[in-house]
Amino acid sequence: MLVVRKTVQMAVRKHLSRSFSASRNHLQERKGLVLGVFEKEAEEGGLHLTEAAARFDQSLSGKLSDLLKIAAPGLKKGKSRIFYGIHQDFPCVAVVGLGKDNEGVCGAENWDTKKENIRHAVSVGCKILQELEVNHVEVDDCGDAKSAAEGAVLGLFCYDQLKSKKKTRVTTQLHGSADVDDWKKGVVYAEGQNLARFLMEAPANHITPTAFANTIEEKVAPHADRVTVNKRPKAWIEEQQMGAFLSVTRGSEEPPVFLELYYNGCPDKKQLPLMLVGKGITFDSGGISLKPSQSMDAMRADMGGAATVCASIVTAAALKLPVNIIGLAPLCENMPSGKATKPGDVVTAKNGKTIQVDNTDAEGRLVLADALCYGLTFNPRAIVNVATLTGAMDVALGSAATGVFTNSDWLWEQLHKASVVTGDRVWRMPLFQHYSKQVTDCQLADLNNVGKYSRSGGACTAAAFLKEFVTAPHWAHLDIAGVMSNKDEVPYLSKGMSGRPTRTLVEFAAGLAHSG
Ligand code: BES
Ligand code: ZN
Ligand code: ZN
Repeated sequence: MLVVRKTVQMAVRKHLSRSFSASRNHLQERKGLVLGVFEKEAEEGGLHLTEAAARFDQSLSGKLSDLLKIAAPGLKKGKSRIFYGIHQDFPCVAVVGLGKDNEGVCGAENWDTKKENIRHAVSVGCKILQELEVNHVEVDDCGDAKSAAEGAVLGLFCYDQLKSKKKTRVTTQLHGSADVDDWKKGVVYAEGQNLARFLMEAPANHITPTAFANTIEEKVAPHADRVTVNKRPKAWIEEQQMGAFLSVTRGSEEPPVFLELYYNGCPDKKQLPLMLVGKGITFDSGGISLKPSQSMDAMRADMGGAATVCASIVTAAALKLPVNIIGLAPLCENMPSGKATKPGDVVTAKNGKTIQVDNTDAEGRLVLADALCYGLTFNPRAIVNVATLTGAMDVALGSAATGVFTNSDWLWEQLHKASVVTGDRVWRMPLFQHYSKQVTDCQLADLNNVGKYSRSGGACTAAAFLKEFVTAPHWAHLDIAGVMSNKDEVPYLSKGMSGRPTRTLVEFAAGLAHSG
């Protein structure tokens, strides 16, 4: 025991002396390594190294396993230990706990526990190394290179663009594995989610409707051969007679944009497109039905639907998925002013239906109503809208899963299957007539923008409202209000806006691409 402790002390001393004698340049290139270990079954006790960790251990004549016996005899899932100076190429080595090695798809949890454990563990290792100012990290594939890459790239994200003091920028690389294609895929999926996180986290005076559209235009520029962008101005929105969308933007000084993305990934030009529609309220003050000021700042992320939809199309293009996708994002602010829509006003949507706007804070369904009517004119194979639509969705499911309201069992299965793979879960919600009656019973117009029993079943009455604008057989509404932000529930996402469910949308599109 004493001997091994001495080895550790020597290792630490050796590392320190090397660091102090190193040139500044060398310090700037500090390399780290993340290795995984599984827990053995209870009766066996101890740890079992991944293939990459075992090879690393062999190269050190068993030193890593010796150190682990002292420092982490039973390293638990998501826990870590750092070893300094044990390898000349890697001054810092993070060993992370992957849980049991026989995990897989879990019916009760609706996700793949093995993949989730890898994302968690790798993110923990990378974050610790980032804290230690390591700027290049090599990562064990831990048995699933795609999940390992997702854990690394999601774990290292932070929004510090506007701070003077920034976290260490860390580059990542696969260590000791041939699964480079899967690793690269995982990096692209995670970067997609990080793009959505960036747009959602950014303040509303930075990400205005115009800035949002410009950012997406920049992101698709490398894929210009397959992606077309249209940034439609207010005059176009007026020509389209999108009276519901226009009623929301009325109170704002910031010009609205109707953003269209066309991704042509399928060689068969006749293949019907998948249509994705995202709510793009770059700030939701509530309008004249003003929100309470506490936590109003979070409403800068009320464009989370547009952010996840656009980020998933950027990702589909980067992956060159063989599928056609159209993305629509009605972008505007919801603000109070002398020009703003007033409770009780009646507006006319693109399809001619009249809407009594009893609560100007229920604005998401108004912008989506017009975007859905427009989307249907493309005769899509499926139409999926994504929106931070109701606080009631957060009350119902919290951040465990996105609520899916759909008229199609086929579409539900596709979305659910994708979410089991990504771990960014979905849960089916009802579209009963029961709720439709509560929005169609309206004093002045065809529809009321709030249910007549106001708070009860708020996520369901909002979905029922959208249903009144949809004639397609395969439509799904994803209410992402509950998953919009993360405290510590998803361990591989740090605190802040989550970018969920970007990876599920990408996986869903990939599934459609492969099913033809
Ligand atoms: N953007 C909000 C919903 C929301 C709340 C998203 C919290 C994320 C976190 C939406 O526009 C809204 O205000 N909805 C109202 C509807 C109500 C007035 C019928 C709500 O949920 O309170
Ligand atoms: Zn609102
Ligand atoms: Zn809103």
